[in-house]
Amino acid sequence: MIHHSAEHHAAAVDEYLEQALGLRVDALEAGREHSHSAGLPRIEVSPAQGKFLQLLTEITGARRVLEIGTLGGYSTSWLARGVGAAGTVISCEFEPLHASIARENLQRAGLSERVEIRLGAAQGSMDSLISKRVAPFDLIFIDADKRNNVPYLERALELAHSGTVLVLDNVVRSGAVLDDPSRHGTQEADVRGIQDSLRWLRDDPRVSATALQTIGVKGWDGFALARVL
Ligand code: SAH
Ligand code: DHB
Ligand code: MG
Repeated sequence: MIHHSAEHHAAAVDEYLEQALGLRVDALEAGREHSHSAGLPRIEVSPAQGKFLQLLTEITGARRVLEIGTLGGYSTSWLARGVGAAGTVISCEFEPLHASIARENLQRAGLSERVEIRLGAAQGSMDSLISKRVAPFDLIFIDADKRNNVPYLERALELAHSGTVLVLDNVVRSGAVLDDPSRHGTQEADVRGIQDSLRWLRDDPRVSATALQTIGVKGWDGFALARVL
């Protein structure tokens, strides 16, 4: 375990970095506050992680982005900034309240023209995109129910092209990824889903992957990054 005071200090450093780099964008912060006051869980990416997603989108030149897990549209907004005015983000969410708050936030941030929120269980939404043979996505951010990470990765591959970037959030979970999933009670299936998805990234010959740990305002976690070959 990371010492508690180290994690506390890392959160303060993250806040310093937010200030020093100006990562709290007003239009996006307003949406975040709206989500919090509507009672949505405070589990969105941090400002630093959001800007990282925007930069990854820009650096790879992604124009079509798929997101699994919209919540209040905070990560969606960063991705939408990344694709630019000519780009598209499709984001999948099954909670009607989350989807409607996200639509309001994206509207107020001036990003709704480039974002489509698909309401429904994400596997079904991905299946319908696959059967409609939509143009492949350049970047796919998977950040919903971790127990379904492998089904999401399988479908992501069907919606990808050679070079598509895959980002999988929350693969460390304060070190829970090391544990026997049965120790995690109601989270057992999620811990198992994370472990299975990392093995899938190792074993599937169609992808090349790594994972990086993160520490900051969201505590100790990490994300996996993969490229479709
Ligand atoms: N990406 C967001 C956070 C997403 S939180 C951000 O960083 O700003 C995870 C979201 O996934 C929640 O809104 C939850 O309702 C949604 N979700 C969970 N299981 C789902 C499923 N099976 N299908 C679609 N959405 C799901
Ligand atoms: C949880 C989910 C997330 O996507 C996240 O980034 C942090 C926490 C959660 O379900 O606890
Ligand atoms: Mg997450």
